[in-house]
Amino acid sequence: MAEVQVSLGERSYTIHIGNEQLANFRTTNAHKLNKQLFIITNPTVSQYYLKPLLNVLTDHHVDFFEMRDGEQFKNLDSYAEIMDRLISKGYNRDCGIIALGGGVVGDLAGFVAATFQRGVDFYQIPTTLLSQVDSSVGGKTAVNHPHGKNLIGAFYQPKSVTIDIDCLQTLTERDFRSGLAEIVKYGIIYDADFFHWLEHHAAELKQQDPDALTYAIKRSCEIKADVVAKDEREKGLRALLNLGHTFGHAIEAATTYGEWTHGEAVSAGIIIASKLSEVTQRLSASDFRRIKELLTAFELPIHCPDMPWESWLEYMQRDKKVKDGQLHFVLPTAIGQADVVKDIEHTTVAAVITECC
Ligand code: NAD
Ligand code: GLY
Repeated sequence: MAEVQVSLGERSYTIHIGNEQLANFRTTNAHKLNKQLFIITNPTVSQYYLKPLLNVLTDHHVDFFEMRDGEQFKNLDSYAEIMDRLISKGYNRDCGIIALGGGVVGDLAGFVAATFQRGVDFYQIPTTLLSQVDSSVGGKTAVNHPHGKNLIGAFYQPKSVTIDIDCLQTLTERDFRSGLAEIVKYGIIYDADFFHWLEHHAAELKQQDPDALTYAIKRSCEIKADVVAKDEREKGLRALLNLGHTFGHAIEAATTYGEWTHGEAVSAGIIIASKLSEVTQRLSASDFRRIKELLTAFELPIHCPDMPWESWLEYMQRDKKVKDGQLHFVLPTAIGQADVVKDIEHTTVAAVITECC
């Protein structure tokens, strides 16, 4: 078993990574686990993992809510349904909310925890690769609005993150690949050695070799923890974690949520950002090629959908990185380094997008 610490003063917490972590959930959280617990999950996940979790919580008062499965349900309707349930079941301020699922469940459950009775304890049990390496760590919680992704939310850190690698066995190949996109992102923005390691272990990772997988998850969590500890509220460094997301969020929103997975959209978004960086002479052609080849090795999309420029612009302008009406882009400047760049002509962005379609 591995542990990664997220150092945020009194809001610090531990990420537990390993096999059979679900069965250990009570033990690893023994000192702080609330008497009243409420699990938020969905039917796809609960069919495998709800009972094993309930089995270790028999000393607690536990209820659960199964939201509908899908990005399109990460919205205010689901949020309101859960709030109704918590209130009608008499949950109080001392309760704890457990997210058991992927990033959709985690983001929604976190926003519920952040706002129910002005904030209650929150525990993340991420069950997709993407949520294990990214969304469960760092405290971003949100729901979508029809006009854009994650437009309503809060920063709210969990008390712990429990990553059970065994849960990945039931994940579809497509959802597994989606998680690899966020892992590649960490190598590009922060750690050239990790990127190099990924290039040399792509085959093992695709086959879900346990040692390779454990290392990739741990290294990703370490990088995310490091970035979040330095810049929890995204005043600077943390923005780099959004590599590919400005374009990716536009793809997700414009194609109606669910058609592209988040990881697929991020992959195509990383290609656009990298191409934009190459075209504006920030990234070398050989580094662009390495990024493209690694995403290709993981069978992730390297082309974006053909959408009119007006659609891209409309969705990109709702991006949270827009400042004073100006688009900001996270661009890789080398393998292991990235920067936030403004002042790029819209015509250049449009031309690069067309080239990437
Ligand atoms: P997801 O939660 O929709 O999960 C993908 C699919 O896998 C779903 O059908 C889900 O039910 C299913 N599933 C989950 N665990 C499973 C398991 N163990 N076995 C079988 N099926 C399983 O998608 P995701 O890729 O996990 O997360 C994407 C979401 O995360 C997006 O909403 C994105 O905006 C958000 N996100 C948030 C952050 C953050 O920092 N908060 C970071 C990245 C992404
Ligand atoms: N996934 C982006 C962030 O957590 O900041």
